[in-house]
Amino acid sequence: PIQLPLAGKKVVVTAGPTRERIDPVRYISNFSSGKMGYAMAEAATKLGASTVLISGPVELPKPEGVRLVKVESAAQMLEAVLAEYDDASIVVKSAAVADYKPKEAQTQKMKKKDGDSSIELERTTDILKTLGAHKNSQILVGFAAETNDAIGYGKSKLESKNLDYIIVNDVTDPGGGFGSDTNVVTLLTRAGKSYPFEAMLKSELANVLLEKIIQEERATVDD
Ligand code: PMT
Repeated sequence: PIQLPLAGKKVVVTAGPTRERIDPVRYISNFSSGKMGYAMAEAATKLGASTVLISGPVELPKPEGVRLVKVESAAQMLEAVLAEYDDASIVVKSAAVADYKPKEAQTQKMKKKDGDSSIELERTTDILKTLGAHKNSQILVGFAAETNDAIGYGKSKLESKNLDYIIVNDVTDPGGGFGSDTNVVTLLTRAGKSYPFEAMLKSELANVLLEKIIQEERATVDD
């Protein structure tokens, strides 16, 4: 029988946006649809992995063969990821995690008042940075959603978060980014290699990216 490349490996993928509550009826979030992350989870499963998909609120069906953990906020995503981290072989962080949350979530719906209003925000925990700081043998794959100097910011995130790979997308590219079925990305490796890919369906791209990472890992072991 053919041995699939990720057979016996646990892959953890995060997907979608997070929602940070302002009050019971309002929240802060972003335009992530979850398509990229769901495609990564599906591709990992097809390559033989036992896949856990930790997802923010999205409108997508559960990919077949994947264990789905639904979360809402960045804090819940952190907790869910940490619970799956120790025995994971690969962690792919496709989720668009909120960087800020309201300092206090109101328990009752905020009422309109005359004049302007503002909400005080505080930082959420950087999940990926936390994972990078507690790495044992996991391969850590981040994403970077940028609107300018994508490669430059991608490289600095790869280093500051102690990642093995980062998948950089310029989200202003008409061929990709938030919500679309296609994406245009460059894969950067810790060793300093850079692999740009043409616009492709997120489903195809997910497979191409994982295959490339598997190939890079084999090359590192053989060195
Ligand atoms: O969901 P789609 O509509 O298909 O869109 C796909 C996508 C554009 C959301 C996806 O391709 C993508 O780029 N995901 C990462 C979005 C993002 O949050 O990028 P960032 O540059 O802000 O963060 C860098 C990395 O740190 C990401 O891997 C992110 O998951 C992680 N992070 C960020 C903040 C935080 N508090 N914790 C984190 O782990």
